[in-house]
Amino acid sequence: MDKQTTSYDEYVKDEAFLREYNAYQAKYATNIRESDKVLINLVREAFSRHDASKGPFKLLDIGCSTGNLLLHLKNLVPGLELVGGELAESSLEVCRSNPSLKGIRFERLDMLDIDYESEFDVIVANAVAVYFYWDEYAKAARSCNRALKKGGTYLAFEWIHPFRHQDITITETTIGHPKGLRICFRPMPKVASVFEEAGFKQVTFHPFELPIELPKPGFDEEVVSYTVKSADNRNLCFRGTLFQPWCHLSAIKV
Ligand SMILES: C[S@@+](CC[C@H](N)C(=O)[O-])C[C@H]1O[C@@H](n2cnc3c(N)ncnc32)[C@H](O)[C@@H]1O
Repeated sequence: MDKQTTSYDEYVKDEAFLREYNAYQAKYATNIRESDKVLINLVREAFSRHDASKGPFKLLDIGCSTGNLLLHLKNLVPGLELVGGELAESSLEVCRSNPSLKGIRFERLDMLDIDYESEFDVIVANAVAVYFYWDEYAKAARSCNRALKKGGTYLAFEWIHPFRHQDITITETTIGHPKGLRICFRPMPKVASVFEEAGFKQVTFHPFELPIELPKPGFDEEVVSYTVKSADNRNLCFRGTLFQPWCHLSAIKV
């Protein structure tokens, strides 16, 4: 893939894919994804430390898609000022026309260059930075750092694993992305140093384990997450032929 054309450029303008993806997202408006429950608890924790005399607690969900996480935060953690940021115009339109998201502001924002300074108490990037080249990844970390208040919390959900020397970038071709989409599985130590260099401390990894089983799709269908039982009864999360080391990340702006 041409280095000038980042995968997110193509991804956020791929209307055929987004139509399918937005339809897929609709089912999680009522059923909260297990990984989102973890994020919601991490937001609750950050909110519980908030000093109300310093003004409202502001949260940005960058790459918010159709706004499911924001919807659940609105319902489950009242008192937050919520902002959704996206590059995909069609997803922003879906959010703005959804009455259940009333009261949430939606803006066209690029995670690599968020147009705010010291504004947010929390920034969430839920399965967004998985597509970025390392230089974009570092830029995104710096951009989020700038947009957070001092002591603010960055929360993410990505493929991050503990094997220090294994840094995986692959092009995955699927029904949804017939031209191929780059996806990255990053080693924890390298992620930690990128975030530390961007001005974060307490970079913490929370490897995610699915508490439920997900059915395996047929070999001729679109790849979606499914689980396989390990010998010690854990639900290992696969996608097609790939094992997915899903992991939550939290970090604090110095
Ligand atoms: C895999 S989806 C995840 C959506 C949602 N956060 C979730 O967890 O369901 C990635 C989203 O990030 C958006 N995105 C990709 N690159 C972005 C960027 N540079 N800035 C803002 N949003 C971006 C895409 O348009 C897409 O909606």
